[in-house]
Amino acid sequence: MPKIYITRIVPEAGIKMLKDKGYEVVVNPEDKVLTKEELIMALKNQNYNALFCLLTDKIDAEVMDSFGPQLKVVANMAVGFDNIDVIEAKKRGIMVTNTPGVLTNTVAEHTFSLMLSIAHRITEADKFTRAGNYIGWAPMLLLGNDLSSKTLGIVGLGRIGSRVAHHAVKGFEMKVLYYDVNRNEEFEKEFGAVYVSLDDLLKESDFVSIHVPLLPATRHLINAEKIKLMKPASYLINTSRGPIIDEAALAMALADKTIKGAALDVFEFEPKITPELLLLDNVIVTPHIASATEETRSKMSVLAATNIIEALEDKIPSNMLQN
Ligand code: GLV
Repeated sequence: MPKIYITRIVPEAGIKMLKDKGYEVVVNPEDKVLTKEELIMALKNQNYNALFCLLTDKIDAEVMDSFGPQLKVVANMAVGFDNIDVIEAKKRGIMVTNTPGVLTNTVAEHTFSLMLSIAHRITEADKFTRAGNYIGWAPMLLLGNDLSSKTLGIVGLGRIGSRVAHHAVKGFEMKVLYYDVNRNEEFEKEFGAVYVSLDDLLKESDFVSIHVPLLPATRHLINAEKIKLMKPASYLINTSRGPIIDEAALAMALADKTIKGAALDVFEFEPKITPELLLLDNVIVTPHIASATEETRSKMSVLAATNIIEALEDKIPSNMLQN
């Protein structure tokens, strides 16, 4: 009977699918991230055939050494997979899968939640009101900025970036600029979007939203020099991966008003956050929850389980990462 290890409690739907197949499913009972040593201890000599893991689990060669040769698949319950050494897995004949598609809309919604919240000063206004400072309507109180008719620069036109563009154009009549390694003329026609260089995007956008995966080439893609290109009245939104932005440089830029604000769901050294960011009113932070709705996390759990079942039934998993 195949044995599966799940590194943390996840939505039940995926666990049930695996159990319904008759697999032996072991779930780490503690609702916390396992350290590397704890993960290795949990896997060693246990003969697991599949690992169901999360973006907080670093699956490198050392962890793979503890798998044993029967391990067929590492299924990440995330669309991003920078936590897994995919090349090393391939060398060892281990399949790696992720969960794209099911979270696209939810992450796009969270991106807009952040964009609207920073532009309309929602968190500042909430704090202000709770502190008892609301003594009456005032014409100059907490003025923010509109999204409508503004220019949104999308960095990375994958599924999520495209969905954000959809909401921007169809919902808010924004103008969309985009930068990606690939140009997409069909997308340009559909949304009236304009393909530009990263520098031009930063110079011309009122809102910049990051949607690239974390790769060696995208680490610190947005550094001090790039932030300086942005308009003083612009906002930076990040729902992709923290290290794409040089967080110390961003904190400085926000403190000295090089840009107007930032709304971040991900952090360079998460769960740690550059302390200076947390002192600023022109910053909104959420704890890496862009895909965190009941509906979507359940679908992610089901998709990770589906990938495991496919691999264990000797099929190519739907979301296999290596070709
Ligand atoms: C979340 O960040 C994911 O990659 O799914």
